[in-house]
Amino acid sequence: PVLLGVIGDPIAHSKSPVMMAAAFGAAGIAGEYRRLHVKSDQLEETLRDIRGQGFLGINVTIPHKVAVMDYLDELDESAKKIGAVNTIVHANGKLKGYNTDGAGYVRSLREEAVSDLTGKTVMLLGAGGASRGIVYALLQERPKRVIIVNRTEDKARQLAGEYSAEIPVEGYSMEQARELLLGVDILINTTSVGMHPQTEDIPLPVDIIPEGIVVSDLIYNPLETKLLRESRLLRGCKVHGGLGMFVYQGAIAFEYWLGFRPDVQVMRQAVLDSLT
Ligand code: ATR
Repeated sequence: PVLLGVIGDPIAHSKSPVMMAAAFGAAGIAGEYRRLHVKSDQLEETLRDIRGQGFLGINVTIPHKVAVMDYLDELDESAKKIGAVNTIVHANGKLKGYNTDGAGYVRSLREEAVSDLTGKTVMLLGAGGASRGIVYALLQERPKRVIIVNRTEDKARQLAGEYSAEIPVEGYSMEQARELLLGVDILINTTSVGMHPQTEDIPLPVDIIPEGIVVSDLIYNPLETKLLRESRLLRGCKVHGGLGMFVYQGAIAFEYWLGFRPDVQVMRQAVLDSLT
């Protein structure tokens, strides 16, 4: 059987095993996808075991996405540019790192909300690791302009400054969002604000969001954050939640490992079932 897994700390909450088991089932593959609780000081020996035990590959989650790069033989362009790895392929005795988070997000956005991103103006809230992966993937889609706003303005400017290509990428403070939102087609929350259903936090007031634009949130638990619910109800926005990003980052990893596309509907349903 095909041997795969996910390393992280904590790892008990990960939905990847349930999702990948569903993908294997739908494809008729005898696969085992293990949940591996790995502390930072066990990373090196774990990677040695991944080689030794014949894993076909693994997913990597918090907090190892950056540190794991030290133990790989090769990095794909996506991993180099984003500076983080969430998928490792073990082939021909070598470990190669990829990043499918940004591409997974963009595939989900295109399938579920905006089929063509060409010429669009996109605003991202947040300038952390998640934002970095999405900016990288968005730029492959030829948007008109990418605006990063962040609580800490310096981080937004710094991230924007890494991309000096022909597509403008700019960084600003959260206070400047109101003005900047006027020309925005797609607003994406990459911060963790909204992750706690009890507090119902929101990253910015919805009355400054232009009516009818697309509003997207990386958070998928809750499935609809307060930002999405209010944007939909009060601003008539088309909303896009984070479940698809999780599904497609896994689907793209599956493709790297096995060479064909898994059944994403089955994967999505498996995650939904495990959330309730
Ligand atoms: P991730 O990998 O999920 O992006 P991260 O790299 O820690 O995590 O980045 C978290 C992002 O969420 C940052 O942009 C952070 O803003 P700062 O750079 O100012 O810290 C943002 N963030 C987290 N909590 C926030 C809050 N309560 N309000 C506004 N932004 C917040």
